[in-house]
Amino acid sequence: MNKIVIANWKMNPQTEADALALARATDDERIILAPPTVYLEPVSKIVKKSLLCAQNMFWAENGAHTGEISPHELKDLGVQYVIVGHSERRALGETDDMVAQKIAAAFESGLTPILCVGETRAHHDAGERNAVLEREVRAAFSRIHPPGTDKGVLIAYEPIWAIGTGTPNTPWDTADAIRFIKTITKDIAGIAPTFLYGGSVNGDNAASFFAESDIGGALVGGASLNPESILAIAKAADMVL
Ligand code: PGA
Repeated sequence: MNKIVIANWKMNPQTEADALALARATDDERIILAPPTVYLEPVSKIVKKSLLCAQNMFWAENGAHTGEISPHELKDLGVQYVIVGHSERRALGETDDMVAQKIAAAFESGLTPILCVGETRAHHDAGERNAVLEREVRAAFSRIHPPGTDKGVLIAYEPIWAIGTGTPNTPWDTADAIRFIKTITKDIAGIAPTFLYGGSVNGDNAASFFAESDIGGALVGGASLNPESILAIAKAADMVL
């Protein structure tokens, strides 16, 4: 199966002109683009190959929710994926239950969620990685309503200590974490997960992650802002047999 590459621009760039330039330079069928919400519409109008991903959404379909974005509003722009529970949002107060509501809303609206899970450096050093992963994964799917056909979901293992640090986790430890997450998800009815890694992935190290059969792709932050880097990551994804 092809490896999946998500370009999470986070809160970059700062102008629509720069966003469109970046989108044009990285419009590629191997790359899913996740621009800031304000640029989803202009980017949707110019990309020809990339699919689109939102970085966040709310769970209600409409109503009195100042500042929030509904699943329906995203779908109306042609968005197909949504990142849920990124550690940068959890750090601002997004709880396991808010994540669960967003996952359920994504499934109900037909958006494919990209659930982010991962431990802090402190939890990692204390040997609590698996406990954190189990809690976050079980909580995230606690509000879905099986039975029905299994719904596609991407689960990104993103150790917080590896995000934006230039120091990624090792591919073998990442694969180990993903194998652990699989022992949890295999008992959750109604989902068909694919597993990604995120945390300082770049054009030089991507191939070593994609070589692991348990790693189905990468969620890329910093390197996604550099066309040369994200295209090198996409190329590495292509090279995997
Ligand atoms: P990074 O970010 O590639 O800059 O480490 C990854 C992420 O936050 O998803």
